[in-house]
Amino acid sequence: MTMTTLKLGNDGPEVFAQGLGCMGMSAFYAGAEHNESVATLERALDLGVTLFDTSDMYGPHTNEELLGAFLAEGDRRERVTLATKFAINVSPEGEREIRGDAAYVKQAAEASLRRLRTDVIDLYYMHRRDVRVPIEETVGAMAELVREGKVRHLGLSEVTAKELHAAAAVHPIAAVQSEWSLFTRDIEGTVVPAVREVGAALVAYSPLGRGFLTGAWAAAETLPEGDFRRFQPRFTGDNAAANTAILEPVRTIAAAHGATPAQVALAWVHSRTAAWGTSVIPIPGTTKRHRLEENVAAAELALTDAELAALEPIAAQVSGDRYPDMAATFNDRD
Ligand SMILES: NC(=O)c1ccc[n+]([C@@H]2O[C@H](COP(=O)([O-])OP(=O)(O)OC[C@H]3O[C@@H](n4cnc5c(N)ncnc54)[C@H](OP(=O)(O)O)[C@@H]3O)[C@@H](O)[C@H]2O)c1
Repeated sequence: MTMTTLKLGNDGPEVFAQGLGCMGMSAFYAGAEHNESVATLERALDLGVTLFDTSDMYGPHTNEELLGAFLAEGDRRERVTLATKFAINVSPEGEREIRGDAAYVKQAAEASLRRLRTDVIDLYYMHRRDVRVPIEETVGAMAELVREGKVRHLGLSEVTAKELHAAAAVHPIAAVQSEWSLFTRDIEGTVVPAVREVGAALVAYSPLGRGFLTGAWAAAETLPEGDFRRFQPRFTGDNAAANTAILEPVRTIAAAHGATPAQVALAWVHSRTAAWGTSVIPIPGTTKRHRLEENVAAAELALTDAELAALEPIAAQVSGDRYPDMAATFNDRD
């Protein structure tokens, strides 16, 4: 298989065109099994996947600890472009506060370095914007971490185009991480053009619509207790049924290629690199080797213009918001 690599921003490292989202191994989605998660990380390295995505708030902390323990063995750390995030501070009581002040950025980075058992974070993201703090202060503190050699490249998640431009004026931004899939295309209006203008890569999170686009489940009510998706408006009640119906073109195209719906959903995100003329790197999350293999193979699946046209109407037909509470998403701000 030819391994397509893409650059993480103008000055960033080359990574395999598809990363691995590690969140579900420790948080939000029920059912991960430790040994299979570790085997999945190992298989990802074997297959040439290089961008591993985590955050200090996954768990909280346990996802970084899982990766830290995994990467401590042999030469694994140097084979990975390690991305983590700060800003969503979870108290011992489970309350969340978004923090972007300079003191917090430094303290969060030190804690992530410790848990990840590494001297340097390859890509450090602001996970959410603290609107009480000028973005210049937050990015200024992140830039300081680069100067200190603790971080190599900077990223931002769930930001507006305006925030991205303000941040890029302080320090080059290698990547913007936003939700982007057949289901969620809100960023195409202003964020994606801004990403291209500042020379960043777009890292597409939840490219499988949190699993819904794969057809592996069709209603949140069927997911185990404790699974965050049970409360996501687009997966519950009438919305789930309506949203399953609009995925017919995905199923038809998958059948024509002898592929799976998951592969078609990922191939569509991969096709955005050519469509927008900027690096687009999906980071599907999985906790299972066989799904990782299926997902990685999708990087080679080319969709025809007619197939892309058939997929085009889906996002506009989706019923329900992408989060139960849209506050702190980029949609919430100018
Ligand atoms: N920046 C942010 O705010 C933000 C928000 C959300 C996520 N993220 C990042 O993005 C990553 C990916 O997003 P995500 O995990 O939310 O959603 P996703 O990648 O769209 O979907 C993940 C779900 O799909 C299932 N799945 C994966 N491959 C499959 C396949 N081939 N067939 C059937 N089911 C499949 C997984 O279950 P199994 O484990 O059972 O395979 C998991 O439940 C996360 O891991 C995280 O690193 C970032």
